[in-house]
Amino acid sequence: MPFQELINNASEKLAKADRLVVLTGAGVSAESGIATFRDAMQGLWAKFNPEELASPSGFRRDPKLVWEWYEERRSNVARNRPNPAHYALAELEKIFLSSNRKFTLVTQNVDGFHMQAGSNNVLELHGNIVKNRCFREDRLLSDAEIERETVPPKCKHCGSYVRPGVVWFGENLPQDTLSEAFEKAEKADYCLVIGTSGLVQPAASIPVVARQSGAFVVEINSLESAITPISHIFLQGKAGETLPQIVTEIKKY
Ligand code: OAD
Repeated sequence: MPFQELINNASEKLAKADRLVVLTGAGVSAESGIATFRDAMQGLWAKFNPEELASPSGFRRDPKLVWEWYEERRSNVARNRPNPAHYALAELEKIFLSSNRKFTLVTQNVDGFHMQAGSNNVLELHGNIVKNRCFREDRLLSDAEIERETVPPKCKHCGSYVRPGVVWFGENLPQDTLSEAFEKAEKADYCLVIGTSGLVQPAASIPVVARQSGAFVVEINSLESAITPISHIFLQGKAGETLPQIVTEIKKY
């Protein structure tokens, strides 16, 4: 089927949907200049051993290396901006809410670009790279609670190192956020999955649960992924080009 026809079909269904759940992954931020996790050649994990850097044991072994790596990633996020895919999703949220329909955006990304683009209700499954937490007590720390004389800096309350507010390998996802995401997936009648390889659990099960509960599943990805076999429609293309086309289409209904 020609691509425009697939867009039209996905948009027609979306225009009629009542309860939309969107799941995004690193591909949504690729066009903002943030490297994806698994894309060959340029992926972050191709250059580093993830267990080495993004895990509590890696941090214990070499806190300075891990902290500096995250500082590098933070400055990359600070240098870059949301792209048309983020803005299209923020617009989609407004369209849904203004017509009293349910909209939930679940993201695996830690860059905060969905909020920057104007999305209001974002479930961040893997945390946020801008935030800081105490490594010992795990609570979120404001700037005023951080002593910046060492690398990594230290928690003013207990003297432990500060760590980035993201979920690392081997750690649990934020329980409330995760439960809410699955609850919404079970109730959804439409699930839009964008720019994720669908390889990391439990996030990858969100579209599976939505589909099992009767949702229509549409995937946008520049390449086939683990989600493609369970999608009703696969839109192969860049998120920053495809999503604005869908938003333009649904405005016609
Ligand atoms: P991946 O890097 O695994 O997958 C990125 C996906 O985006 C791939 O399927 C690409 O084909 C697709 N892609 C790339 N550019 C795109 C574009 N412009 N438009 C549309 N699609 C594009 O990233 P995630 O699936 O998000 O977890 O990875 C999931 C989790 O794995 C991450 O959140 C991270 C990592 O371990 C934690 O850090 C806990």
